[in-house]
Amino acid sequence: MEKMYSEGILSTVGNTPLIKLNKIFKDISFNLFAKLECFNPAGSIKDRAALCIIENALKSGKIKQGTTVIESSSGNMAIGMALACAYYKLNFICVVDPKISSQNLKILEIYGAKIEMVECQDITTGSFLQARLNRVKALLKKIKNSYWPCQYTNEHNPMAHYKTTMSELMNSLRKIDFLFCAVSTCGTLKGCIDYIKDNKMNTKIVAVDALGSVIFGGEKYKRLIPGHGAAIEPFFSKKGLKKMVDTCIRVSDLDCVVGCHRLLKEEALLVGGSSGGVIMAVEKMKDLITCDSNCVLIFPDRGERYIDTIYSKDWVKKHFDNVSIL
Ligand SMILES: Cc1ncc(COP(=O)(O)O)c(C=O)c1O
Repeated sequence: MEKMYSEGILSTVGNTPLIKLNKIFKDISFNLFAKLECFNPAGSIKDRAALCIIENALKSGKIKQGTTVIESSSGNMAIGMALACAYYKLNFICVVDPKISSQNLKILEIYGAKIEMVECQDITTGSFLQARLNRVKALLKKIKNSYWPCQYTNEHNPMAHYKTTMSELMNSLRKIDFLFCAVSTCGTLKGCIDYIKDNKMNTKIVAVDALGSVIFGGEKYKRLIPGHGAAIEPFFSKKGLKKMVDTCIRVSDLDCVVGCHRLLKEEALLVGGSSGGVIMAVEKMKDLITCDSNCVLIFPDRGERYIDTIYSKDWVKKHFDNVSIL
């Protein structure tokens, strides 16, 4: 008899729904699908990477009983890691900076993570990211039996998407003509591209980056919406990954806000900022997408984490002049 239940919460990571978006664009001649990563148990695509990293470290003996996992993240990776560590009863120290949202901080604490807050930017680089990495290194020295997953360089970050995200998509659709993927560590992008290359697929890759991010070049500046984009060039994008990308579309904070509200209004989808960016990237290039193509969008996280920002009238009013989207 087929088993009608899952073996524990971590077995619900992945196998997220793929839905057809029929309403948001009225005039398109291609098929538009969204992979809803908000259905992962801790709410984002990063659950896949966190699980793959932790389980491989357990298998290889890098993590044993009593190990303290130390990671630097203020967002979805931190929460995914907190879930995996809570399940495997591992100590988890999460190094964050003051820009973390109070909601994420609470979620991490509820999962049992110990919070290490860096108070100020690194003196030499002026960045919080560097300050967090310095703190991780100091903690690794101080705490015996500690382990740093390092999502920025850990091969199991992209591997998670090679093994699960892409194979799920191919099982659902058989043919993918366009894949739209938001980028930060580029773990998702690399896993998908490696799969596409190895399987000799003809998929056109569209990377969706933030304006003000340096991944695809351009000037670095302050961004409001977390998730996609990076202030320093990610390790995974350095090794020729960008050559495999057909198009990079840069989206502004406002694009993300507008995209999120359009998804909510037209498709009743409450998703996070980068998903709004991804739908606006489609808006920007929809005239170039060929008739009858299968076009897949990865929507990385859920909208509840943006209630006080993207979905708050006051916040939108404060940050964007003359915008009436609410
Ligand atoms: C909301 C959101 N979108 C997109 C991304 C980009 O994913 P990746 O780090 O795999 O490039 C992230 C990564 O944290 C994210 O949190």
